[in-house]
Amino acid sequence: MDINWYPGHMAKAKRLLADQLSRVDVVVELCDARLPYSSRNPDLDKLLAGKKRVLLLNKADLADPAATSAWLNYFRAQGIDAAPYSASTGKVKDALAVIDRAAKEAVERAAQKGIRKTVKAMVVGVPNVGKSTFINSYAGKACAKTGNKPGVTKGKQWIRLSKSVELLDTPGILWPKFEDQKVGLRLALIGSIRDEILNTDELAVELIRFLKTQYPGILTERYEVEETQKETELLCGIAENRKCITKGGELDYSKAAALLIDEFRSGKLGKVTLEWPKEQENG
Ligand code: GTP
Repeated sequence: MDINWYPGHMAKAKRLLADQLSRVDVVVELCDARLPYSSRNPDLDKLLAGKKRVLLLNKADLADPAATSAWLNYFRAQGIDAAPYSASTGKVKDALAVIDRAAKEAVERAAQKGIRKTVKAMVVGVPNVGKSTFINSYAGKACAKTGNKPGVTKGKQWIRLSKSVELLDTPGILWPKFEDQKVGLRLALIGSIRDEILNTDELAVELIRFLKTQYPGILTERYEVEETQKETELLCGIAENRKCITKGGELDYSKAAALLIDEFRSGKLGKVTLEWPKEQENG
């Protein structure tokens, strides 16, 4: 599938982000734990230019725990302070410990000069990784709008996280980077690309191909299909199992495709991670 999507607001986001970044000391980068390589933006390294950064693998509740721990080792080996997190259910203090650790150096440096510094932090990430949910969990009230659709973030204030850290209530939106079609496809599967521009049927076929090789048994268990079949036949089996029927009484493949993707995104298929560090090491 050829996903070639770069909305105008993403170009504007780059300027906006550079402006916001100039006002903060610590950057809390959120990526999707099911996609820790493809849901990070490689341009961020350049943009941050020496700023302290922590990486949270958010939605860890939906990811394969073995993959998450492999990814944590991978990032830590690169000197990146990374931690798993679940913004929708996680304990706020777990993430706070990571942010405090990142802020510590700046606070101590200022203290040596007799200054009580308030470290300013901000959250960044590609669409739909949970930035607003993360900020809301601190704000204690729904001040940043959340939704399971990319691009709904609005808001500009500081939220006090701890004695020495304040968080900007507006997240920095990073543009997804997907010249590589495999990366684009994976981003589409986690909902970082608008569904309207996708071919859902093709996306579902790719997901089926991935699941039957990487997570054998998952499709059989949920939809009672025979995984030795071809991908399109499996989609047909899912449509039958879930009684996806058109008005004309035919099997509705598009409905089955949308259902499968939805069940994957919401974790109903189980804890699945779409990529492992080994792939990145092997190029
Ligand atoms: P944009 O505004 O598009 O940039 O999105 P965002 O990064 O602010 O994401 P948002 O907080 O709107 O979350 C997107 C969806 O993911 C929502 O449906 C959230 O409820 C859900 N979500 C966020 N964090 C988690 C998590 O840790 N686990 C699970 N299961 N869902 C989460």
